[in-house]
Amino acid sequence: MKRVIFVCLGNICRSPMAEAVFRDMLKKRGLEGKIEVDSAGTSSWHVGEPPHYGTVSKLREHNIPTDGIIARQLKKEDFEKFDYIVGMDESNVRNIRRLLGQPDHPKIFRFLDLTEHKKDVPDPYYTGDFQETYELVTDGCEALLNKILEDMEIGDQTL
Ligand code: 4NP
Repeated sequence: MKRVIFVCLGNICRSPMAEAVFRDMLKKRGLEGKIEVDSAGTSSWHVGEPPHYGTVSKLREHNIPTDGIIARQLKKEDFEKFDYIVGMDESNVRNIRRLLGQPDHPKIFRFLDLTEHKKDVPDPYYTGDFQETYELVTDGCEALLNKILEDMEIGDQTL
């Protein structure tokens, strides 16, 4: 079993979108029992809230559910629990390292560094562009899933 956590600032826009998209990919590929996914925020600002309407409505266009996703803050114990701790932008990565007290651990990395984009996921809370977020999140989730399958040496056989 491998465990992934997506982390952004508020845990209402980008990281819950990534959680929902990734969970949907796992379901479609029959990998639900092999890989687990969660999300969290580095801030406590929206703890207890469901995802932002922009995230929910964009996902609904693609028939991807957000049931059960409720904002929470990243906590110290998450470092031990998760194998991939994925920041949506560079400031998220800095905050993750600080909150977890792990200045330089390879399991903490920036999401789109796994893709050819190699950039931050812009924050749709400010840009309002949930379509851009969805496209980048989809690319990043594909890349992350491929990386995890390689790490697990499952390769193509279960795809
Ligand atoms: P997220 O976006 O980090 O993608 O969830 C934000 C959500 C809320 C705020 C900032 C960013 N906020 O300032 O409340």
